[in-house]
Amino acid sequence: MRLSPLFAAVALCLGAVAQVHADDAAPPARVAVRAAHLVDVKDGTVRDNPLVIIEGERITEVRYDGQVPAGVNVIDLGSATLLPGLIDCHVHLTGDPTEVKGDYYEAMLKRSSFDSAILSPTYAKRTLDAGFTTVRNLGADDFVDVALRNAIDRGDIPGPRMLVSGPPLGATGGHADGTTGFSPWITFHDIDGVADGVDAIRHRVRENVKHGADVIKFMASAGVLSMEASVGAPQYSQEEMNAVVDEAHRWGKKVAAHAHGAEAIKMAIRAGVDSVEHSSMIDEEGLKLAKQHGTYLDFDVYNDDYILAEYAKKGFPASTVEKEKLVGRLQRENFQRAVKAGEKMAFGTDAGVYPHGWNAKQFAVMTKWGMTPMQAVQAATVNAADLLGMTGKVGQVAPGYYADLVAVSGDPMKDVAQLEHVGFVMKGGAVEKNEIKR
Ligand code: ARG
Repeated sequence: MRLSPLFAAVALCLGAVAQVHADDAAPPARVAVRAAHLVDVKDGTVRDNPLVIIEGERITEVRYDGQVPAGVNVIDLGSATLLPGLIDCHVHLTGDPTEVKGDYYEAMLKRSSFDSAILSPTYAKRTLDAGFTTVRNLGADDFVDVALRNAIDRGDIPGPRMLVSGPPLGATGGHADGTTGFSPWITFHDIDGVADGVDAIRHRVRENVKHGADVIKFMASAGVLSMEASVGAPQYSQEEMNAVVDEAHRWGKKVAAHAHGAEAIKMAIRAGVDSVEHSSMIDEEGLKLAKQHGTYLDFDVYNDDYILAEYAKKGFPASTVEKEKLVGRLQRENFQRAVKAGEKMAFGTDAGVYPHGWNAKQFAVMTKWGMTPMQAVQAATVNAADLLGMTGKVGQVAPGYYADLVAVSGDPMKDVAQLEHVGFVMKGGAVEKNEIKR
């Protein structure tokens, strides 16, 4: 049926009137979360007796006077401590080490991206239940990460907010090249981000953006879990790194560089990356450069414990464990130097190398190696949001922000490991989990 313009106009007016009446009768549902304490990550303080008022997905008000506005439904968390939903700037939700059960090559050769796609919602849910309401997924084959993000955004499945990179860029034979170490006569279909030379790199960045990447990840140096000989050598020329960053930034995408080695870290910083991932062997000059350029450093300092304890048993190649021994300890020492130097640091675990849902185990390592609990929490909230370009949306409990909240029963400022036992999780105003005992 075609509506006459007059009828349409009348219908619109009536609709508006009906809307006003509906608003009068039922104001939008308001919910409040009450707890004994709130970690104010912006000011670096803990405030008592918070009441966080939420309308729909967003926080509208945080008050401390104990007054509950009329008509607000209160979720009372008793003596618990509230924090903003946690943010992990480096995960891989499309895989988990528990998939490798003694035979590395079974996992490598007999599984495809469909297997990853089937398992990844489970890993997303574990991550959300652990209190991580936002993650940055830095590397996935075949854009499985894009599909996962979209399903979560549509509300089809539960999971954290995700920024995703798609397949990471890297040199032939380097850390992004999953075919290294196999016979040259085995053919693999082209699934990864391997690109050599400026033109190929620019093309690959554009492909990733075209297919839904929020961020560009590239391998500036060699790595631990790949088959090339070195663990830290640069794998792109300066010109190639510059091309990644120039092209990505032109499309409005931030760049994360995987880099263990001192030289590769400096090259990546000079190229203008937004964050260096791993940062293991950063030297004094690298720390200075990072400061000058305002580059974020992510140190995945928990990984070493898990890799050394579990990977040999799981059947990973001995070379991987040997490489880990070259970087693990150094990475922690350099993390401590970076903390002392006052670098910009964000929380990134590389979860997927260790089991999803264990993300928070990294907090205790961070405090053991020089951060205060507040600094470690800030790395996973305000700082992480800044790195992700999401300030104003996530990383704080403040008006206008998404109502992404977590709570713990113990005091995380005395014992940061309390964050391994998040009892309450809210994402965008929806309660995902509430096991806080009152
Ligand atoms: N994905 C990283 C790599 O393969 C893991 C490094 C883990 N080791 C560490 N000490 N952080 O290089």
